[in-house]
Amino acid sequence: MKVLFGHKDHLVRMAALFLAGIVVFLVLKAVFVPKGFGVYGHYRAGALEENRAHPVAYAGRAACVECHSDVPETAKGGGHAFIRCEACHGPLAAHAGDPGEHQAVRPESKVLCARCHAPNVARPARFPQVDPAEHAGDEACTACHTAHNPRQQKEGAK
Ligand code: HEC
Ligand code: HEC
Ligand code: HEC
Ligand code: HEC
Repeated sequence: MKVLFGHKDHLVRMAALFLAGIVVFLVLKAVFVPKGFGVYGHYRAGALEENRAHPVAYAGRAACVECHSDVPETAKGGGHAFIRCEACHGPLAAHAGDPGEHQAVRPESKVLCARCHAPNVARPARFPQVDPAEHAGDEACTACHTAHNPRQQKEGAK
């Protein structure tokens, strides 16, 4: 027996070290794990409330169409009919909520149209693409194309 526990000091020291490690771990865990973590598994429950508190930026197409019902009429049958309004117009929840207070602006067509139609090898070849400078020169795209139904050519289009 004397031989077996002859070096028990080592064991006691090792056990104390482990214990100290566990205590440090528990303290750090209590300090750093945010409140609500674990309520829904590996997720911080408070994040839901924080996200819900963000102001809504997008109104959605249904809201736009309630006031601008002429736009879907124009768009019908064209290539842009299925694009959501705010994909082109940007987030406009504030405008939809109070159009008198928050005005919407018409997008700058040369910038907007090129975003989707400038040549890009990442796009399918059958997707309509034009070199803006070559195709339009200095003119705005909307000088010839109706924005909501671009196959419709305006008067004066070549
Ligand atoms: C509650 C009614 C209402 C809603 C909802 C609404 N608008 Fe408007 N919108 C107006 C009014 C009123 C004007 C200003 C009058 C005008 O020029 O037709 C306007 C103007 C605009 C203009 C500028 C028109 C111009 O001639 O400069 C754009 C673009 C526009 N709205 C887009 C949108 C989009 C996109 C949405 C959906 C996110 C939307 N609107 C939702 C009522 C609304
Ligand atoms: C968010 C991306 C996007 C933007 C921005 C955009 N387009 Fe398009 N456009 C499309 C898609 C998608 C189609 C349908 C392509 C298809 O049917 O293969 C299309 C089709 C077209 C066509 C072919 C005719 C048709 O109706 O299918 C023309 C011309 C066109 N767009 C011009 C324009 C002009 C001018 C602007 C700027 C006012 C513009 N586009 C902005 C995505 C976009
Ligand atoms: C492909 C991009 C695109 C989409 C999708 C789009 N718009 Fe537009 N919209 C434009 C551009 C560009 C103008 C400016 C046209 C101009 O200056 O001649 C415009 C103009 C407008 C205007 C001003 C009046 C007019 O008709 O010119 C309103 C209102 C409007 N859009 C509402 C909407 C609504 C509502 C939707 C969804 C149903 C929508 N737009 C979808 C690009 C788009
Ligand atoms: C001077 C008038 C004019 C202007 C300005 C103009 N277009 Fe066009 N665009 C046309 C005509 C006409 C066609 C149809 C004949 C053709 O395919 O060339 C067309 C066709 C297109 C097509 C379809 C090409 C295809 O392969 O089917 C796209 C996309 C297009 N235009 C985008 C734009 C964009 C983006 C702008 C602004 C940078 C613009 N257009 C400015 C007259 C114009």
